[in-house]
Amino acid sequence: MTWDQLYDACAACEKCELAKTRTKCVFGTGNREADILFVGEAPGEQEDLSGTPFVGRAGQLLDKYLYAVDIAREDVYIANILKCRPPKNRDPLPAEEDACIDYLREQVRLIKPKIIVCLGRIAAMRLIKPNFKISKEHGVWFEKGNFVMTAVYHPAALLRDPRRKEEMLADMQEIKKKLDSLK
Ligand code: URA
Repeated sequence: MTWDQLYDACAACEKCELAKTRTKCVFGTGNREADILFVGEAPGEQEDLSGTPFVGRAGQLLDKYLYAVDIAREDVYIANILKCRPPKNRDPLPAEEDACIDYLREQVRLIKPKIIVCLGRIAAMRLIKPNFKISKEHGVWFEKGNFVMTAVYHPAALLRDPRRKEEMLADMQEIKKKLDSLK
């Protein structure tokens, strides 16, 4: 599948009930040749309206961390596990993840990132392992064949609990080091 075919399939997707309530499908944004892919959970209100991931408050905080560790937003790709917003931002249902995950799988196949960073526990539980514990395992590296993976706190969790911000900065600094080491 090409990018355009994948985008069109996603924009027209009716594989789950979220298609009925979405404003826009939030496919992903950024550099399609990025060495690093960030994967969040699902679009929120602002993302559903704009069609772009991480543009609301959590996205602005993510931008600050990228800037702080000198990773340019133009050099990354950002996507989510779910491409459509769950009503009232509830957690994704397993059936919704199952219906949607092939879009992300294809994005990974096309981008061929060297690093995948899960933003928060939902992405980490889906992509790294089902029993992932974000408070214990954030910042840990997992080898996955063609790429390495890690997870950091979701920026929305940092907005709720700013005490974790130092750990987040340390994790992001390690991610930048890993990125430079793989160049
Ligand atoms: N939270 C996410 O997980 N993804 C977004 O795109 C926005 C907020």
